[in-house]
Amino acid sequence: MGEVDPAFIQDAQHRPKLAVIEAEGIPLIDLSSANASNHVSQIADASKNWGFFQVINHGVPSESRRKIEDAAGKFFALPLEEKRKVNRDEVNPLGYYDSELTKNVRDWKEVFDFVVSTPTVIPVSPDPDDKELKELTNQWPQYPPELREVCEEYAREMEKLAFKLLGLISLSLGLPENRFNLFFEESTNFIRLNHYPPCPIPHLALGVGRHKDGGALTILAQDDVGGLEVKRKTDGEWIRVKPTPDAYIINVGDIIQVWSNDTYESVEHRVMVNSERERFSIPFFFNPGHRVWVQPLEELTKGEKPKYRAYNWGKFFATRKHSNFKKLDVENIQISHFKASE
Ligand code: OGA
Ligand code: NI
Repeated sequence: MGEVDPAFIQDAQHRPKLAVIEAEGIPLIDLSSANASNHVSQIADASKNWGFFQVINHGVPSESRRKIEDAAGKFFALPLEEKRKVNRDEVNPLGYYDSELTKNVRDWKEVFDFVVSTPTVIPVSPDPDDKELKELTNQWPQYPPELREVCEEYAREMEKLAFKLLGLISLSLGLPENRFNLFFEESTNFIRLNHYPPCPIPHLALGVGRHKDGGALTILAQDDVGGLEVKRKTDGEWIRVKPTPDAYIINVGDIIQVWSNDTYESVEHRVMVNSERERFSIPFFFNPGHRVWVQPLEELTKGEKPKYRAYNWGKFFATRKHSNFKKLDVENIQISHFKASE
């Protein structure tokens, strides 16, 4: 990423402000059991007001996180040719990748993606008439040799936390704790190791351009560098999420927005880079099975019209995976495309 390719340059209105606003407001929720009576109402408020919150005392062993962070550091430090041995391509969307586009502008980052369940099945193509399915297979690099094991162990911890959070979100919407669980059989969860190298043009480029996460929930580990910005709902201002040691940042994705019929919204976010320090982050994307038709839950639309038409998660996911790969003439698939007419 030495010379600066114009593909990285954001349009003027999307460039980051170098004067950062650091939020006090993004809620920090203590998940220890001593505090359990408050969890549901805290999650309801945070999901409504911010779409984002941080959790501490979440039960994920810090050792497991430290190991995956160390292994990620070793992997990204390898020569490019070594990393490219596990390059993602049009057929296999998993592995290493350094040229992702968000909203058609190149992100200043490199990533390594892997799926959590074996097997993970998704449609072969975005075409709604093509019923063919495929099994995704992880590509593990030779170095560092422990990468696979630490990733698999970390993934199990993330799944446990994801179900805990899913239950709390369900309760916070007035539903039974396990209301959503059925949708996560055959789940298409995946984990991304992100590396944001120092950037000579941090005022013109972004680590990840503004976007919403398409799945149900995201659980993000960020290091102490900082750079994640969340669009504040009250005024549209970009707010920096201050790194809290050992915490996870949780955000509600598009699917929970649809299930809850817009009670909770999936909020736009982006990543700023800087010219001095590299940054690492590890999001876990909690996604339902490919067969799931996503639509507002009946219990939550009583007396109201559902705000979305049902869409198939597998096709949505396949369309995203397909299109982040190349520059498009049209906007990428969004839940707004399934808005019910008034
Ligand atoms: C993402 C994302 C944030 C970060 O990968 O979807 O929003 O801080 N990442 O890396
Ligand atoms: Ni995101």
